[in-house]
Amino acid sequence: MNRFSEPRDPDFDAINRSLDVDRRLWPYDIAQSRAHVAMLAAQGIISAEDAGKIHDALTLVEGELAADLFKFEQDDEDIHMAIERRVTELAGDAGGRIHTARSRNDQVATDLVLFTRDAARETVAQIERLMSALIDAAEAHIDWPMPGYTHLQRAQPVYLSHHLLAYVWMLDRDRQRFAFVASQCDVLPLGAGALAGVNFDTDRALVAKELDLGSVSPNSLDAVSNRDFVIDYLSAAATSATHLSRLGAELVLWSSQEFAFVELPDRWTSGSSLMPQKKNPDAAELLRSKAPRMVGNLSSFLGVLHGLPLAYNKDMQEDKQYLFDAVDTLTVALAAAAGMIEGAEFNASAMADAAGDGMIAATDLADLLVQRGVPFRESHAIVGGIVREALAAGRPLSSLTLDELQAHSSHLDGDAVALLGQDGWLESKQSEGGTALVRISEQLVSARSLLS
Ligand code: ARG
Repeated sequence: MNRFSEPRDPDFDAINRSLDVDRRLWPYDIAQSRAHVAMLAAQGIISAEDAGKIHDALTLVEGELAADLFKFEQDDEDIHMAIERRVTELAGDAGGRIHTARSRNDQVATDLVLFTRDAARETVAQIERLMSALIDAAEAHIDWPMPGYTHLQRAQPVYLSHHLLAYVWMLDRDRQRFAFVASQCDVLPLGAGALAGVNFDTDRALVAKELDLGSVSPNSLDAVSNRDFVIDYLSAAATSATHLSRLGAELVLWSSQEFAFVELPDRWTSGSSLMPQKKNPDAAELLRSKAPRMVGNLSSFLGVLHGLPLAYNKDMQEDKQYLFDAVDTLTVALAAAAGMIEGAEFNASAMADAAGDGMIAATDLADLLVQRGVPFRESHAIVGGIVREALAAGRPLSSLTLDELQAHSSHLDGDAVALLGQDGWLESKQSEGGTALVRISEQLVSARSLLS
């Protein structure tokens, strides 16, 4: 018997059922059920004997789920109902007591807190793997010149190590964001009941301790309504995926024959079904395309929560598909980024040739005029004129003679000729955070210490 006079419409089941999405929460559902039942027994709310039977049943169910032998039924709306149904089959009347002083509302929130905490910690570990791959690559190519770009135009030369380390700082901020996410998953919702608290003398601190959570939620309405930790994960994931898309985009460009700065490991590329010569940077391309999907997960779920009255609403069931997609997508993206960087072969001569572009010293020449007392705007214009003339003549700046330079400014002397003839402009960037080797060595030490 129940309050309904007709069976559910199959189409209702189709829209209502969340089992296919939430079944992966089962380890957390078992863990919280164990903690909950132990607390119920400790508080005398159920008997020790019933608690024992439930524990045994939970162990069997856990085994079935782990071995993929668990038989789901049509009426199993979600993983919580499936597990409770099976525990009750196995433990009889005792199983019927597992849901005492608990609602699916505080139950699902608790599973999700535990899931998100684990996911955030794993994401941190994965980010660290990528950071470490980048630091190793930076160390191995510490003094390899390459062009630095703005607007994708050659701007000023930098060392490859400097470029790679730029990503390390980006990723370190991502790592901090995910550590924050994990810190937000430290409060126990269980014990809030459906929304108002429960009619039993529960010991929520005991359950929290059992689940290794730092505190219990102080407000039962907030406990079942809160999905901020999901938003925090989605938001950190959107930012991190956006960072990876920039790395992916550079790997796509750099591995093209036009750049030829890098050769990606074969195991991270694919061939063409038609053109035998091709080696495609698919994983790097996909790093680019995953980012908007992650932003979509965040904005979709913010849309779900927007305007929702307190407390639990079924809308919130949709949280999991966005969260799981974000976790799974970021997991493959971070693994791909680390795999590609770990196996990348950089091409010293292609990068050095591009960095030796005859025009790339123009800013340094302008700075030299500034050191001679010329206002920067004026020196910018003088050097602009020199560049125009050299381009028109098809000559690199380094071929200009003293006379030719002095025709543009009497401040240009032998130092200017020397400056253009050498490649010291990398080593002159000695300002803090600059590309000169002394600074990169310092940077490498601080980057390494991030991971120690
Ligand atoms: N499957 C539901 C969810 O994921 C569990 C909570 C259902 N609660 C309820 N009162 N119908 O949100």
